[in-house]
Amino acid sequence: MKVLITGSNGQLGSEIKELASDYENLECIFRDLPELDICDTEVLNTFITDQHINAVINCAAYTAVDKAEEEEQIAQKVNSEGVLNLVDALKKVDGKLIHISTDYVFDGNHSQPYKESDPVSPIGVYGETKRAGELAVLNSSIDAIVIRTSWLYSVYGNNFVKTMLRLGNQKKSIQVVSDQKGTPTFAKDLAKTCLDILSNAGSTNISKKGSLYHYSNEGVASWYDFARAIMEISNIDCNIIPIETKDYPTQAIRPLYSVLDKSKITSDFKVTIPHWRDSLTNCIKKINHNS
Ligand SMILES: NC(=O)c1ccc[n+]([C@@H]2O[C@H](COP(=O)([O-])OP(=O)(O)OC[C@H]3O[C@@H](n4cnc5c(N)ncnc54)[C@H](OP(=O)(O)O)[C@@H]3O)[C@@H](O)[C@H]2O)c1
Repeated sequence: MKVLITGSNGQLGSEIKELASDYENLECIFRDLPELDICDTEVLNTFITDQHINAVINCAAYTAVDKAEEEEQIAQKVNSEGVLNLVDALKKVDGKLIHISTDYVFDGNHSQPYKESDPVSPIGVYGETKRAGELAVLNSSIDAIVIRTSWLYSVYGNNFVKTMLRLGNQKKSIQVVSDQKGTPTFAKDLAKTCLDILSNAGSTNISKKGSLYHYSNEGVASWYDFARAIMEISNIDCNIIPIETKDYPTQAIRPLYSVLDKSKITSDFKVTIPHWRDSLTNCIKKINHNS
């Protein structure tokens, strides 16, 4: 199967790049801006048709949650129109799609993990545009699944783990929000799940049991818990001070609770999900090894 990974220089795309050679039945092709812009319909259609692409893992997205509040048009273009372009291009070649979405489609008023069947209600522009992208996929007739994930970090790119490691080595204490709860997700674990799903599917439909799935690591944490774990695992002597969201104003409001229920992806695709703390340990080991 010939698989195109869009947005391949981002966190998830880079982790897929690292794992791809383990999958003998997948021939992965990696593209990002400026060479392959998912908003450029003509270039996208030509690429997918001419390269005989059988499947796409869409890692391309506008992910600047705060900046999206000011750049709604750009966020909408990439997260919604770009996804529709992918769907249309794949329709022409009868291709499969794994599209990645976010826990930020929920408003955070739950106290139990969100299931795929729970109603969405995004509270920011980023979440709204990602929801529009989900609908572009879910309302299509192609063989596609949407996987919502949360609090992604990786060895690659800029993320909370790397920021905390940098600040922890510079400061004696850091204030971190303790009243937003979710689950950190190592992009490498999600990358493996995407590749496993395509590799195991062969010529069968990936959407035969459903089109919407939740995937994060196991467990629950606040950003404060996450930051403390980063310092503990890295043996950094930096005091993490819990603060409330109201004391750390940001442009975009974030859901206070966005833990995802993973039972559907676990049972439909026989996925084994590591606990967030174990995956964090693996990621930090790799970051230290690379530096
Ligand atoms: N990061 C998180 O915490 C998080 C949480 C939940 C869900 N997600 C979702 O998970 C997926 C992967 O996230 P990530 O953290 O890997 O994102 P990322 O690191 O921001 O990577 C996204 C990649 O897409 C590229 N891109 C932007 N516009 C594009 C376009 N028009 N055409 C082609 N490529 C384009 C970006 O290039 P530039 O950098 O040059 O713009 C970047 O290389 C996204 O769908 C995201 O919404 C992320």
